[in-house]
Amino acid sequence: MCGIFGIVTKNEQTLGPILIDAARRLTYRGYDSVGAATISGSHIDLRKDAGRVDDVAAKYNFAEMSGQRGITQLRWATFGAPSQVNSQPHLDSDGDIVGAHNGNVVNNVEMRELFMAEGLTVRSQNDGETCVHAVERYINQGKDFIEAIRLAYGDLQGDYAFVIGRINDDKLYAIKKGSGLVVGIGDGFTCLSSDLPSILPLTREVIRLNDGEIITLWADRVELHLVKDGSRIERAPETIVEEMSAVQKGGYAHFMLKEIHEQPEVAREVLHLLENNTDVPRILETIRDARQVYFIGCGTSYHACLAGAVYFAQLAGKAVIPVLAPQFIPQYLPAIGSKDAGIFVSQSGETKDVLSALQAAQEKGMTTFSMANVIGSTLTRGTSAWLPLGCGYEISVPATKTFTNQVITFLYLAARLGGRDLAQFDNLPELMEKTIAETDPQVRALAPAINAWNDLYCLGYGATYPMALEGALKLKEITYAHCEGMLSTEFKHGPLSAITDGFPVLFAAGPEDVPLIVSGINEVTCRGGRAIAIGAPDSRLAANASDMITLPASSPEVAALLAVIPLQLLSYYMAVARGFDPDFPRNLSKTLTVD
Ligand code: M6R
Repeated sequence: MCGIFGIVTKNEQTLGPILIDAARRLTYRGYDSVGAATISGSHIDLRKDAGRVDDVAAKYNFAEMSGQRGITQLRWATFGAPSQVNSQPHLDSDGDIVGAHNGNVVNNVEMRELFMAEGLTVRSQNDGETCVHAVERYINQGKDFIEAIRLAYGDLQGDYAFVIGRINDDKLYAIKKGSGLVVGIGDGFTCLSSDLPSILPLTREVIRLNDGEIITLWADRVELHLVKDGSRIERAPETIVEEMSAVQKGGYAHFMLKEIHEQPEVAREVLHLLENNTDVPRILETIRDARQVYFIGCGTSYHACLAGAVYFAQLAGKAVIPVLAPQFIPQYLPAIGSKDAGIFVSQSGETKDVLSALQAAQEKGMTTFSMANVIGSTLTRGTSAWLPLGCGYEISVPATKTFTNQVITFLYLAARLGGRDLAQFDNLPELMEKTIAETDPQVRALAPAINAWNDLYCLGYGATYPMALEGALKLKEITYAHCEGMLSTEFKHGPLSAITDGFPVLFAAGPEDVPLIVSGINEVTCRGGRAIAIGAPDSRLAANASDMITLPASSPEVAALLAVIPLQLLSYYMAVARGFDPDFPRNLSKTLTVD
């Protein structure tokens, strides 16, 4: 969701190709518009429009842009429709300051009215422009940039990071408030970005900013200041050693397929991390002793919370409330106190809904832990202990490997709290490998028939219920078909009326739930529907279902986890057959930093 990149060089040079490449590296976050600005002497060259990076960059010839400083921004529309005028970066009234933001200025409308009343030139509806004018007002009053940004920070409500620069200067300035911001120190240049992958090809020396910090970038040095009192602080750069190959497709047609295939490997990694994590005993003790425990997340991460709650009850006898992050505040906050504990779950660690719930919970004294893939994200920095998912970069918008590692983490914690034999985890990665290898051809064979429909259901029961919801989300997200996930036993309470000849209904079946699932299957098939069972070899499923996707035999808990893999594959093959790009589904963003 939105991404900014900025660079400061020693001398004027061609910056276009650097900006285009940086923008390409930010595309995985999701976007609808792209822009670039370069500053040289007293001139700002600004080019931008709605559209894909390569198309807009080619149309406006970004490649020829030159300057001593450059900014590029990818926008995902919140304030103002995707259009040229709403694209970022934005100019101030006189056109001698340029800036761009990532995030959400929630008092954007009021601020724009104020600017217009004060006679500033407001050209768009976009809140990135609001950040520029918010600084411009104070520059016009004679403040220096640091002071102007500090004052603007007091005016701008919401969570954002922005970068800004002016003509006849040699610096860029940036501030972080709730959105990611990382600075790179290179040989003869400095740069900044919303995230690390966009910087790593340029330099491995980075400084991560905290909220409430302003950074000034010259070509050969940076300076950090605190917003609260303007004081100067020192922070040495850290050296990043991670491989960039993780962000390449590695021979797969799409990141999603690569990430599905990476699941066994990252499962091994997360189990290794969990075994050696010194925070795990404290987290488990807190959960055991807590008055009430909540698992909190959104989308796919919420489905992992649902699975976690099933595992904690089944394996450790501990009741947990799984809750969608935005519902946490209205439904549970009045009941929250210091005896309660919560695990906040997020791939990105930047999801605004999750961060808002976290803040509210902490204000009520709840003990908070997090589970996230992006280490150093706002979420992991905001809780008393965090559990890394160890997945490396997940580029594809549909979450796959981070989901299975979230589920594995919950399963591991529940098994450990319940004093279960942890040896069951030893062959989990191999079972996942087998599941991918064995179900891939079965799924491919079935996909064309299912793909003929634009409506389908995905049902599960017990531990497979969250997997059914997750499978349905994947199918909706990338095939654009309507797919509803639900508890298999609920189907007869209404949706059964949708069944017509051949209507597809997917059933994820745990080994202990087969009799109940078989009932559901028959309710569908006797009305002409097509029931597709996903489960370990079982003569009852085989005899009753119209089709069977066979999983390797495993324990009930692991069987649920395995069941989501063919659903991921099915959604992938259906999306590709429909001609859609599964990595970048329309209207969606990898990281949702807005309410
Ligand atoms: O980064 P998060 O896990 O907090 O993101 C939450 C959801 O936006 C995310 O899981 C979304 O539902 C996925 N794109 C689904 O594949």
